[in-house]
Amino acid sequence: GESISVKDLASKLGREVSEVIKKLMLLGIMASINQEVDFETASILASEFGTSVEELPPEEDPTEIPEIEDDPKDLVYRHPVVTVMGHVDHGKTSLLDTIRQTNVTAQEAGGITQHIGAYQVMCQGKKIVFLDTPGHEAFTAMRARGAQVTDIAILVVAADDGVMPQTIEAINHAKSAQVPIIVAINKIDREGANPDRVKQQLSEHGLIPEDWGGDTIMVPVSAHKKTGLNELLEMVLLVAEMLDLKANPNRAAYGTIIEAKLDKGRGVVATVLVQKGTLRIGDSIIAGTAFGKVRAMINDRSEKVKKAEPSAPVEVLGLAEVPQAGDNLVAVDEKTARIVAEKRLAKKRTEEQKQSQKVSLDELFKQI
Ligand code: GTP
Ligand code: MG
Repeated sequence: GESISVKDLASKLGREVSEVIKKLMLLGIMASINQEVDFETASILASEFGTSVEELPPEEDPTEIPEIEDDPKDLVYRHPVVTVMGHVDHGKTSLLDTIRQTNVTAQEAGGITQHIGAYQVMCQGKKIVFLDTPGHEAFTAMRARGAQVTDIAILVVAADDGVMPQTIEAINHAKSAQVPIIVAINKIDREGANPDRVKQQLSEHGLIPEDWGGDTIMVPVSAHKKTGLNELLEMVLLVAEMLDLKANPNRAAYGTIIEAKLDKGRGVVATVLVQKGTLRIGDSIIAGTAFGKVRAMINDRSEKVKKAEPSAPVEVLGLAEVPQAGDNLVAVDEKTARIVAEKRLAKKRTEEQKQSQKVSLDELFKQI
């Protein structure tokens, strides 16, 4: 914490140093003129003299960009961001495909999701943003980096397979992130599908279905037969309405890197979920140790866009290096972006150095 010398404190209080030392002695503290006293002692002393002291805010971290506080009156509705989670092969991608009426599964190597995609769909004239994740790993990685991107989790459980290890992990992740869960009991068209057994298993993990007196929405669906999907989307909008999701679009953009890669032709391509403010072409940006200027933006329908508002996922071109998934992306003036990126890089290098020294010491001890 903060501290102040007896001399400075005396001058701030407009008292003689000897007076302050005497008062300190009465408080049981033996202090010399140049001794430092902590904030608590200083405030007790000040009150003894019939005044008070104020603590200064902690010094700013040069590797952080200060967050902008939004005035509640500037907040407006934003679309819900939904993550689909669940055990391997329970039908996450199929469900999203059917919802989007497109077919990503066929293009994917072996039908397994290779990366996080972000898509927007319409339901009752309202947009819903979907993030497709390869199981829970991406969610975990982002959580570990402090990134909170999703408003609602759809937990896909195959009606024939039931609750599996990754189903439980997904429940735990959503719970620790305090994200509401909507269960999609998928593959109800299958022989051997048993939705009641799924409900029973989920109840054992604290998710009690509404029709059993609990408060978890569970919708039986079939990605193949396209059943229950409208109901599922309606439930998403219902939960979103209760969450009262809002953001201020009229400020510098703040978002999260969903994924990023180096593309031969286009350079660094980062999928960004804008969460606050509006990101525009020409904005100078920083994400992790990467900085640059927004050169182009592409939405989920492969269209070039000039701006991206809260809850919009966009591909951003223009960063000088590849950021990491979960990094915050912030629009800030060019100079700040460059300086903060340099500071972050220096910090990263120091940490890496410490790590490698530790490793070489370990090696040394192993040899002895
Ligand atoms: P990962 O991304 O690998 O974790 O899998 P996923 O959860 O995305 O599952 P995916 O959508 O790839 O589906 C897995 C298998 O289940 C595929 O063979 C799908 O055709 C099948 N499947 C998905 N939904 C349904 C459904 O509603 N009914 C039936 N019968 N099969 C389904
Ligand atoms: Mg998948």
